[in-house]
Order: sequence, then structure tokens, then C-alpha cells
Amino acid sequence: MASFLNYIVVFFFFAILVASTSAQNVPTLPIRKDPKTRQFYTTIHMGSNRAAINTVIDLGGPFLWFSCNDYSSTTYAPIPCGSRKCQLAKGSGCVGCNLPKRPGCTNDTCGATPYNPFMNLLFAQGFNEDSFYGSKDGAGPAAVVPRFLFSCMDKDSLEGLASGATGMLGLSRSEISFHKQLVGVSKLPHKFSICFPSSSSGIGKLLVGGGGGVYNNILLKSTPLIVNPVSTYPIYSEGDASEEYFIGVESIRVAGETISVKESHFTIDKKGDGGTKISTVQNFTALHNSIYKPFARAFVKAAADLGIKSVAAVPPFRACFRSDTITRSPEIDLVFPGKDVYWSIGGANSMVEIDRKTSCLAFVDGGSNPRSSIVIGGHQMEENLLEFDLLNSQLRFSSSLLVQNKSCSSL
Ligand SMILES: *[C@@H]1O[C@H](CO)[C@@H](O)[C@H](O)[C@H]1NC(C)=O
Ligand SMILES: *[C@@H]1O[C@H](CO)[C@@H](O)[C@H](O)[C@H]1NC(C)=O
Ligand SMILES: *[C@@H]1O[C@H](CO)[C@@H](O)[C@H](O)[C@H]1NC(C)=O
Repeated sequence: MASFLNYIVVFFFFAILVASTSAQNVPTLPIRKDPKTRQFYTTIHMGSNRAAINTVIDLGGPFLWFSCNDYSSTTYAPIPCGSRKCQLAKGSGCVGCNLPKRPGCTNDTCGATPYNPFMNLLFAQGFNEDSFYGSKDGAGPAAVVPRFLFSCMDKDSLEGLASGATGMLGLSRSEISFHKQLVGVSKLPHKFSICFPSSSSGIGKLLVGGGGGVYNNILLKSTPLIVNPVSTYPIYSEGDASEEYFIGVESIRVAGETISVKESHFTIDKKGDGGTKISTVQNFTALHNSIYKPFARAFVKAAADLGIKSVAAVPPFRACFRSDTITRSPEIDLVFPGKDVYWSIGGANSMVEIDRKTSCLAFVDGGSNPRSSIVIGGHQMEENLLEFDLLNSQLRFSSSLLVQNKSCSSL
């Protein structure tokens, strides 16, 4: 009888949540830029105290993790080993803890392996669940998820994260990514969008579900999302596909001219190498050395044609210019299959200001043996609206909103 009552209570709770998320707009979280690390982060609220937690956005991360050292919540629960949720999370083994019991230190807990990409280290932790609130009061266009699955992390494993951030919000294609858990509860279409601000005073957006009214009057182009058949996570089982986002760039143009690159760099081979990945962990787009060289050469030449004066390089950048000679900069296009489908990278997305006098081409040399030939980084995504449509496997992109007289903060 007691369990039947519980069932009714739970069902009722869910019904309210669904009604409140669909009556409002789509769930929206603010995105801020940390000027020092150039990372993008958002604030979530977790547990019975609705603790505010700053988490760095990780497009390639499989799940949410944060430091539980100072976390307390009466609704927190570890995920038991062997449970259905543990299977869904692809839990690795069973973890225990010999210290006093607290969130992040429990026995018989489904093993998690959160990854800190800035330390390039995996950690042994446990999966847990607790209530998720998009905002402090659980109101406004932000969803509430009663049993949100996440991994704890130790506070000593946060090196490299923006100051004030104690976790990362994973947005990959995994079954337990942030958006997947949100749409699972709210019955929204499986899509999410990101729009990163270009300055630390701007406020961008992470939207889950359809665009609501936000996309009105924004021109978006579309290209298929590609699945890399080989996992790109630091630990995986044979046969696992990558859960990161790849797209089919087939050529690159600088000032309208296609640069000459061996075609095989643009495709993903049987080992999962090559191709184009989108990553928020990379601050500037990295190109395979065989792409970077002709690309930078073409850019420098096109810049000279516009009267832009070259100056000494400022590492890690190789092509730098006198800022006062830049009135217009050469346009860069990432070209996709189809008619007129290309991502334009111009203006502030193509250059980075080093100081008042010097600006550089904001791309870095990825070396001669990178896993992916092109890794599109955060600087190139600023003030661009990107919609990841997992229902139709499409990436929709706006190129710079500034060209359309909009910005991520004004959406
Ligand atoms: C890019 O990000 C890394 C890691 O956050 C940081 O160490 C590095 O200084 C950044 N590079 C630039 C040029 O800002
Ligand atoms: C886990 O189990 C061991 C052995 O029974 C016990 O000593 C320890 O206190 C337990 N840890 C927690 C956090 O409950
Ligand atoms: C953008 O705004 C400026 C100033 O408000 C205006 O002059 C210009 O025509 C607008 N451009 C577009 C494409 O709407």
C-alpha cells in the first residue's frame, strides 16, 4: 500500500513538472565567459538547498560532474551498483568509501569516470542523483528534474577550470547528457542550442528543446551531424562510437578561394581519425599542420591585399597584424556538402586581439598527428547560434549574429 501511494505521489509530481515546463518557454540557462581561461560556464542549482554550482560547458562531455566536498542535500542518493540507471549510465564497476559517509563517499555505488580535460585526467568516482533546478526558485523558463543523474568529483580535481567553477556540464550524445535528461522528463524535442557571448559582460544562452520564439528572424544553415565510429573519450569499450559532435567540412575558403588540402584530412577513417569536431574545451580552432600551413599563408596574403600590415608572431599564433591597419579582414568559410552551405568566420571570430596594437589570426596549428584534423574551438563559436538537433541529426548554425544585427546577449 505504501509503495502504491509513493507511486501516485511521484506520478503527480511528474505531471506538475511537465505542465509547468510546457506552459512556459523552453528551458534556458545563462552562459557567461570567463575572460582568463576563455571558458564558457553556466549556473545550475542542485539538491534540497538548491545549491548554486558554476559548471563549464563541455560539448564533448558525457555527463554532469561537480565537486561534492561541500555539498549537502536531503534528496541526494547514490546510484546502486547493478541498477537499471547504472546500466544506462554505463557505470564502470562498483565503488565504496572508507571515510565518513557524505555525498561523494558512499558504499555500493555505481562507478563513474569523470574526465577533467584541462588536467587530461580521468577520476574514479560514483554516480548519484538529486533534484536539478535551472534557477534558484525553480521558476522561469528553466526545467526541474527530480532525479538528475551526475557524478561527484573531488575538489582537488578541478585544476584548469575557470575560477569559481566547480564542475562541468556534459552536452555530448550520451544517454545521460544534460539535454537528454531534461528532454526525457519534459517531453520536449531532443534538441539544444548554445550561443556564447564574446565578452565577460555578455550573457549567452543554453536552450533545451525547440528554439521557442528565440530563433525568429535568424537565418540558419544546416548540415548533418556525423557519428565518428570510434570513441574519442579517454576510456571506452571496443565498438563504442564517439559521443562528440562531428560535421562534414569538405573544404575551406579564404577570401573566396578554396585552399588546397588533401581530401582525406576532411573524412573520418576506420580508426576514427580525421574529420571535423566541435569542441568547447578548445579555445581556438586547431587545424592539422597540413591544413594550417596553406590556410595561414592564404590568410596572410588576402590580408596584405586589404592593406593589413603583418607583425611578429605572438605564440601560439603564427600570423599577427597591426591592429590599426585592419578595417576589414579576409572572410573564412568552412564549406559543407550541398548548395551554398558554409559557415562564415569573419571579423572578431577570425582574429583575436592580443593588445591594443596587435591582432592575430585566431587559429592554431594542431600539429602533424592530431586525432581530428579540425577542432572548431570556442572563439569561433562566439556570437554564433548553434542548434544541435539530435532528432534529425542536424547542426543548424547562424554564422556571426552580429552580421544579422543581433548578438547572443540580445536573443
Ligand atoms: C587556451 O586554453 C588553455 C586551457 O584553458 C589555456 O591554458 C591557454 O592559455 C589558452 N590559450 C590562449 C591563447 O588563451
Ligand atoms: C563501507 O563499508 C565498510 C565495510 O563494511 C565500512 O567500514 C565503511 O564505513 C562503509 N562506508 C560508508 C561511507 O558507509
Ligand atoms: C543594423 O543596424 C544598423 C544601425 O542600427 C543599421 O544602420 C543597419 O541597416 C542594420 N543592418 C541590418 C542588416 O539590419
